[in-house]
Amino acid sequence: MLLGVNIDHIATLREARKINDPDPLEAVFIAKRAGADQITLHLREDRRHIHDKDVLRIRDSSALPLNIECSINPSVIDFILKASPHRITLVPENRQEITTEGGLDVVQNFDKIAEITRTFQQRYIEVSLFIDTQIDQICASKEVGAQRVELHTGTYANLHLMLNSNLPYTHNVIEELKIPASELKTRLQDSIVSLHDGAKEAKWLGLEVAAGHGLNYNNLTPILAIPEITELNIGQSIIARSIFTGLESAIKEMVALIKPKIKA
Ligand code: PXP
Repeated sequence: MLLGVNIDHIATLREARKINDPDPLEAVFIAKRAGADQITLHLREDRRHIHDKDVLRIRDSSALPLNIECSINPSVIDFILKASPHRITLVPENRQEITTEGGLDVVQNFDKIAEITRTFQQRYIEVSLFIDTQIDQICASKEVGAQRVELHTGTYANLHLMLNSNLPYTHNVIEELKIPASELKTRLQDSIVSLHDGAKEAKWLGLEVAAGHGLNYNNLTPILAIPEITELNIGQSIIARSIFTGLESAIKEMVALIKPKIKA
């Protein structure tokens, strides 16, 4: 299992003061030292955390492959094409959202996504699509020519938080999930089955399968049990833990969870 560390929230902290600290580039070197396999950045249309210069500095200095998440907005796409990362992951984006909600609608945006995919692949840049587990989205991802999909684990993660953490007792309780525990458990189980079925289908179609969103130190076990998933992209939980334990230690802890121990 490979780990992509999403470092957007290092930049979120920097942008809280609009200065130069903490520097996401420093996080890249630490991530490499700690055993991460990839750096993931989301270049949002509103540049609320990662900025164009971050992308360029990290691309020029990173010893790890760079995966840039972005919307299908032409101005962002043009910039990233010039920046030439190892991979792009196309994601849906709404201005008002706190984080990426739901997967990309590949069926609805088929022609546009097919064209973007072709353009990037002509430059040898790999294309991944961040999608929900519906079969039609998975099939459309194959048909547009993407090499990979990243399955959205947000629904699973929210259900897990409501069942297994103190979130229900905080002001950030997920209102629509204020339902009986038995119902939460059923939905959680359904979400795992759906991720597993989606991963199997995608793999069967010849797509590489990653997963991400809302994954943390407590909810990985069912995801790690899906053999078709070979990469996880994790951000918020690692950066949150790093505030208390330091970034290198937080990434090492995650690496230890997701990588099987190699026996000497
Ligand atoms: N993968 C994708 C495609 C994402 O959009 C995000 C959030 O930016 C992540 C993974 C990481 O999610 P989280 O920060 O919840 O771990």
